[in-house]
Amino acid sequence: MKFTFAKPFTPEKGTLVITATEGPELAASGKALDKKSGYALTKAMKAGKFKGKGGQMVSLFAPHNLGVDRLIIAGLGKADDLKERNFETLGGKLYATVANGVEPTVAVLLDPLQGCKVPVAERSARIALGAKLRSFRFDKYRTKEKKEAKPTLKSLRLLADEGTKARALFNEMDKVADGVFFTRNLVSEPANVIYPASLAKEAKGLKDLGVKVKVLGEKDMEKLGMGALLGVGQGSVRESKLVALEWNGLPKGTKQDDGPVAFVGKGVTFDSGGISIKPSAGMEDMKWDMGGSGVVIGLMKALAGRKAKAHVVGIVGLVENMPSGEAQRPGDIVTSMSGQTIEVLNTDAEGRLVLADALWYCQETYKPKIVIDLATLTGAIMVSLGTTIAGLFSNDDELADDLFASGEAVDEKVWRMPLGSDYDKMIKSDVADMKNIGGRWAGSITAAQFLKRFIQDDVKWAHLDIAGVTWSTADKPTVPKGGTGFGVRLLDRYIADHHEA
Ligand code: BES
Ligand code: MN
Ligand code: ZN
Repeated sequence: MKFTFAKPFTPEKGTLVITATEGPELAASGKALDKKSGYALTKAMKAGKFKGKGGQMVSLFAPHNLGVDRLIIAGLGKADDLKERNFETLGGKLYATVANGVEPTVAVLLDPLQGCKVPVAERSARIALGAKLRSFRFDKYRTKEKKEAKPTLKSLRLLADEGTKARALFNEMDKVADGVFFTRNLVSEPANVIYPASLAKEAKGLKDLGVKVKVLGEKDMEKLGMGALLGVGQGSVRESKLVALEWNGLPKGTKQDDGPVAFVGKGVTFDSGGISIKPSAGMEDMKWDMGGSGVVIGLMKALAGRKAKAHVVGIVGLVENMPSGEAQRPGDIVTSMSGQTIEVLNTDAEGRLVLADALWYCQETYKPKIVIDLATLTGAIMVSLGTTIAGLFSNDDELADDLFASGEAVDEKVWRMPLGSDYDKMIKSDVADMKNIGGRWAGSITAAQFLKRFIQDDVKWAHLDIAGVTWSTADKPTVPKGGTGFGVRLLDRYIADHHEA
């Protein structure tokens, strides 16, 4: 998809999109078109029960006297209520409406909008971003797909004031979209294609953007004493890996106060459950159990791509959880890199074992001031929060509030869940320092409590349980069904708002 930003004018051919606010109230150019067409727009809005509300849309084909083949009136709602993300939603919905039309190019005309707090350049750029995000398709394995089924739209022209500024804004957003697409592709790939070594190779590609990349194999991890992570991977023929990514975009001479911001991702490239094997129905979903690591890699790509003025680290623990003669058994006791021992009572509670060592390695190696981990950790978080909001756990109120705000801004919402000693007690073991399951209740919280035991004193930490939001079974305005990339935009925004020089 291509995007161009040009001065406002009213095209007389092709497909044209104009907007209307609640009422419906057409803007100046819309009113002119209405008159010229003998009030065809007014008639169409009436006939289509169009009130100019956000999300409403009405299409006119070959309207009289206007030259265009198709005119779309898109509702915005009330101008003074509009936020950045409303324009992304509009862009996404527009894309879905025109993607399979006859025209390879569609023009969107944005008139000045009285009372709207979002500046015009931002409006154009956000519409473009929304369209771009919606245009993602994972179709590389559909070798027989008919041409008619593929989208025909090739470019979107945004006709509005301050086009140069909009272009500059969009270029930055586009880098973030690249990160989101990278993540979506990774989570969409099947587990015979994306396994620890191949995922590590994908991460290595970020070197081209100036990211430092370090890959540890099983021998390296044995030396470091990562018995928790290695135990999960020991049943698989695929070698486990740990990848460390570092981006330092702080301007030269910037005094760095107290360490980087670190992101740590669960990268279980397939979770069969291991010896505590999962039921076969739906097991294919566990190809995206590397979602947390996918987000960390996509996020690093976004940050490096737009040359974020921040120092960030990304760590991903990559393993395949398989049953075999060499697999870990229920009852095994493993020693983590931190020295703490873990009784593995259920080999399907493997994500926390991987994260235990990845988190410890991260803190020992990079001394971060803030650690944020992401993991498709528990089915229980879907029971609590469903499939649109991710679970947030944190030992720091400010960090939790900041992440909440970033989530609201980009529409990747998080909701804070509690931690506490009552939950911590639930993972006490009779034979080791802790056990890897907490019993029937509060499954997401006991999992978070487990991770907390691997967070060092004075480190601000947040854990995002993204099991419910990593994969979507229905299209949303800016997220087609499939891998969502949830977390990339949220954390990019968090870095932009709080950690850039
Ligand atoms: N990867 C799963 C969690 C999951 C479930 C992610 C559904 C996405 C969709 C995780 O490793 C797991 O198996 N968790 C168990 C933990 C239990 C054994 C304590 C669960 O949630 O059932
Ligand atoms: Mn599992
Ligand atoms: Zn898992």
